[in-house]
Amino acid sequence: MILVTGGAGFIGTNLVRAAVARGEEVLVVDRLGYAAQEANLEDGGARVRLVALDLAAPGDALDRLLAEARPRAVVHCAAETHVDRSIAGPEAFVASNLVGTFRLLEAVRAYWTGLPEEEGRAFRLLHVSTDEVYGSRAPEDPPNREGDPYEPTSPYAATKAGSDHLARAWQRTYGLPVLVTNCTNNYGPYQYPEKFLPLVIHQALRGRPLPVYGDGRQVRDWLYVDDHVRALLRVLEAGTVGATYHVSAGLGPTNLEVLERLCAILDRLRPRPEGPTRALVRHVTDRPAHDRRYALDSTRLRRELGWRPEESLESGLEKTVRWYLAHEDWWRRAAGEDFRRWLAARYEPEVAR
Ligand code: DAU
Repeated sequence: MILVTGGAGFIGTNLVRAAVARGEEVLVVDRLGYAAQEANLEDGGARVRLVALDLAAPGDALDRLLAEARPRAVVHCAAETHVDRSIAGPEAFVASNLVGTFRLLEAVRAYWTGLPEEEGRAFRLLHVSTDEVYGSRAPEDPPNREGDPYEPTSPYAATKAGSDHLARAWQRTYGLPVLVTNCTNNYGPYQYPEKFLPLVIHQALRGRPLPVYGDGRQVRDWLYVDDHVRALLRVLEAGTVGATYHVSAGLGPTNLEVLERLCAILDRLRPRPEGPTRALVRHVTDRPAHDRRYALDSTRLRRELGWRPEESLESGLEKTVRWYLAHEDWWRRAAGEDFRRWLAARYEPEVAR
C-alpha cells in the first residue's frame, strides 16, 4: 500500500487512479480543500481509502494512520499550488506547503524509524515539487538542471522551495529515504479551472472571455499529467534515494501559442455558432512578478530511469478537451461558489461574469 497526500487534487487524483490501475492499494490523505473532489476517487472501489486530514494541523492523527496502514511508500503531492492565490493570500501556502511538509516529514520519520530493518530499507518518501523553485529563465538561458540554485519569486514558489529544502534536509540529517521530483506545468483531466488551460476551456465552453496576462509571451514547458504520473511511479520504483529528478517534455511554446492550439481544438470538437473561439481572447492585468519562462532539463530521468513523455502537446491538449467535454458535471461542480468568488476577486468584471 502506498500513501498519497493530496490524492484528491489534480496530480494526486491522476496518480492514485494510475496506481490503482496497476493493482496498488492506496491510502489518500487530503484536506479536501477547494481544489479537491472526493468523487474523483469513487471508482477506485476498495483499493482506495480516503482520510480527510490537514497535514498542517498539530496532533497525532497522521502518526496513528501510518502505524495502522503501514505504507511501503509515501508520495507527497499535497500543496497549495496556484500562484495568483499565493499573491492574494500567502498564509495558506506557508501553512500547507511548509508546515504541512514539516509535520509530514516528522510523522514519516517516526514511522520509518520504527519499521523492521528490511521494511525500513525498502521504504520511500517521494516529495513532488515544481520547476518554479528556480525562478524565471531568460530566453537564451539553458534549461535548469538538478542542483541549480533556487531563486523563487512568488510566495507559492518560495514555499515549495522551502519544502524541497526540508525534504532534502530530512534525508541528509536523519537518513530518511527521500527522493525529490521537480516538474513543469501539468494539464489534463481533473484540474481545477483556476489554472490557465482548464480556465480557458471552462470559459470557452461558456462563451466567456479567455484571459491572457500581459503580452501572453511567457513560456511554459507543458506536460500532460499522465506523463508526470508515469515519471512519479518510475522514480518511486527505481530512483536513487537522495536524488532529484526533473520531469519535463522540453517544450517552450508561449501562452499565446498554446491558447491558439487550444482554440483550434475547441473549434474542431465543439464549434461555436457565434464564430471562432480565439475571438474570445482578452488581454487582462498581468500577474505581479510574472515569471517569463520556465524550462527543465530532464536528461537524468530519461537516461537513468528510461522515462520519456508519451503525449505531444497536440495529443495531450486534444485528450484534455475531450475529457472536459465528456465531464461537464465535473467542471460545473468544480466551478462552484469558491471558483466564482475567485474569478470576481482576480479578474475584470467582463471575465468574471
Ligand atoms: O511550472 C509548474 C507550475 O505550473 C506549478 O508548480 C504550479 O502549481 C502551477 O500553478 C503552474 O504555475 P503557472 O503560474 O505557470 O500556471 P498557471 O496555469 O497559473 O499559468 C500558466 C501561464 O498562463 C502563466 O504564464 C500565467 C498565464 N495565465 C494564467 C492564468 C490563470 C494567463 O495568461 N491567464 C490566466 O488567467
